[in-house]
Amino acid sequence: MSTVDSQNRVLSGMRPTGQLHLGHYHGVLKNWVQLQHTYQCFFFVADWHALTTHYATPKVIEDSVMNMVIDWLAAGVDPEKATLFIQSKIPEHAELHLLLSMMTPLGWLERVPSYKDQQEKLRDKDLETYGFLGYPLLQSADILIYRAGFVPVGADQVAHVELTREIARRFNHLYGKEPDHEQLALAAVKKMSKKDGKEILLQRTAFQQQGDHQALAQGRTLIREQQNLSLSDRERVLGYLEGSGKVILSEPQALLTPAAKMPGLDGQKMSKSYGNTIALREPLDGLAKKINTMPTDPARIRLTDAGNPDNCPVWQLHEVYSDTDTKNWVQNGCRNAGIGCLACKKPLVDAVISELEPMQARAAQYQKDPDEVRNILVKGSERARVHAVETLNEVRSAMGLSYR
Ligand code: TRP
Ligand code: SF4
Repeated sequence: MSTVDSQNRVLSGMRPTGQLHLGHYHGVLKNWVQLQHTYQCFFFVADWHALTTHYATPKVIEDSVMNMVIDWLAAGVDPEKATLFIQSKIPEHAELHLLLSMMTPLGWLERVPSYKDQQEKLRDKDLETYGFLGYPLLQSADILIYRAGFVPVGADQVAHVELTREIARRFNHLYGKEPDHEQLALAAVKKMSKKDGKEILLQRTAFQQQGDHQALAQGRTLIREQQNLSLSDRERVLGYLEGSGKVILSEPQALLTPAAKMPGLDGQKMSKSYGNTIALREPLDGLAKKINTMPTDPARIRLTDAGNPDNCPVWQLHEVYSDTDTKNWVQNGCRNAGIGCLACKKPLVDAVISELEPMQARAAQYQKDPDEVRNILVKGSERARVHAVETLNEVRSAMGLSYR
């Protein structure tokens, strides 16, 4: 099941809870930059989400929001291609969250793995709150309100997308049934051109009787192109094609980010909580020192001791940054004690600097011109809001809230 335009739409959010680092760049942002060329992308600052865990220290959030957006832009997210906004500027997310909460079984939320995991992990915070339990549902609202077809996330978030699918299914099941669905759908088909209408009926038969998925895909495309039909009518025809009721909320799919596990300075995954990060705004003159003091294979005490890259966090960085020649040079030089560790680190220092330098230059431009960033966000909110309002109107009326 899918709603009309969702197959081409991507949505993702990031919590503003501190400085972005190379882990965010390699794990998330590079991917966003790729996706913006192919999909209609919505990227937002998840400030309400940040409050679910940082409600007692909101200053971190406040301080991070603008800088985070600047880092996105510096990394190559293009505000002409992607729609960028701040979650709390689109209050419709909150209303959809509320409405969805009415039909969300408590058990579904309690069973989301991150619920107990995070409570255990973030022991210093009191997460026995209503907001924290509901946080995956808020995420569902974020996704469903834009009818996003794809949600790029890391492995830890896949369960949230799965929950979102279940919520959409339950919603459509409860509220997508119009008593006269079939007549309304057929009336909508009549509003299409004779040729297209006939086409849809054939595709419906091909899919529902012969299981022809190509016909289904063609039908969906054809429906998407019916710009003279209202959204409601398109949803009805889509439901008719697919053999369901009216499809109000579409089920998204997780788009697993190709697991670029960015190693930190100590070989563990790069993460703020391990204190092993290189920030995107890292002062470049301190970078050599940071990399040069990285631990190496403990077996290499003297230059003449042979080492093993498999036991060395520096090697993991070469895996991210170096070409085949350099990697061979490291492998041989390390195992034969032919190169020193400082020499081994040199190409990495250079690679990180040349990666960060242009980003920092762009960031500096935006920092000098915060109004430009605000403008981008205002425009983004306006664009996003049109879609949010449209979905919410449908949801309100499906739930019987459209009296005047
Ligand atoms: N929960 C995500 C995280 O912690 C952030 C997020 C909020 C998000 N809403 C979203 C991601 C919607 C994807 C889609 O990283
Ligand atoms: Fe690590 Fe390179 Fe030193 Fe080998 S030569 S131990 S890979 S830093």
